[in-house]
Amino acid sequence: MNYPRSQSFDPGFVRANMMGPNSMKLLEELSGSLSLQPGMRVLDLACGKGLTSILLAQEFGVSVFATDLWISATENYDRFLRMNLEDRIIPIHAEAHDLPYAENYFDAAVCVDAYQYFGADPAFLDEHLARLVKPGGQIGVAVPGFLQEYGENIPADLQPYIKPEYNFHSCGWWNDLWSSSKLVKITSCRSLDCCKEAWSDWLACDNEYAVADREMIKAEGGMYFNIVGITAERV
Ligand SMILES: C[S@@+](CC[C@H](N)C(=O)[O-])C[C@H]1O[C@@H](n2cnc3c(N)ncnc32)[C@H](O)[C@@H]1O
Repeated sequence: MNYPRSQSFDPGFVRANMMGPNSMKLLEELSGSLSLQPGMRVLDLACGKGLTSILLAQEFGVSVFATDLWISATENYDRFLRMNLEDRIIPIHAEAHDLPYAENYFDAAVCVDAYQYFGADPAFLDEHLARLVKPGGQIGVAVPGFLQEYGENIPADLQPYIKPEYNFHSCGWWNDLWSSSKLVKITSCRSLDCCKEAWSDWLACDNEYAVADREMIKAEGGMYFNIVGITAERV
């Protein structure tokens, strides 16, 4: 597939700031099911080192609240300054269950390669995320998962690698979870085409986490992994 927006950034810069499967490509594909217009106010939840925030600001002209827990606001601010995007990206250090925003504040919220850490709890969507988005606003999540649902019975060849906190699930599982929301209506739920390419971009990085994941992807052998893309409208 072609990812002209993601590929407009320096590959060395992207590799240096990836924290998992290439989040720029995930968001670019997911954005095909969203309508992001210049000037919108967008929450980038669990933005990590801010690659998706940079893509949103630079390519879609939106204002981004780049929110993360493990990466400090100061580290991200330095990166946004160096990209000359400090006027359009506000770095925030916050935990996903304690977000410092007003209800109905955002036109859209996205979360890429992070929702698995807190969003598999059925209460999370309505109690912590959806209420921050204004009625008619959009939510987009790209979350690593499986092509089919295994529940507790993770395939034996993957068991050494998949920790419980990964919360890997299928499209159907996520679709069911979000269907019970009182605050959003699902607009799409599908497997993203860029899954293999996004993982292979990550494995090409030389940081210790990417190197450690190489064995896992070898065991996976292209048989199990998926990236689930879900979009919804706030009702
Ligand atoms: C695998 S990294 C992905 C970062 C980024 N979205 C990307 O794709 O490059 C997962 C991110 O989730 C964030 N995260 C995990 N648990 C969180 C929580 N409870 N609240 C806020 N952020 C959280 C971490 O800080 C980390 O940066």
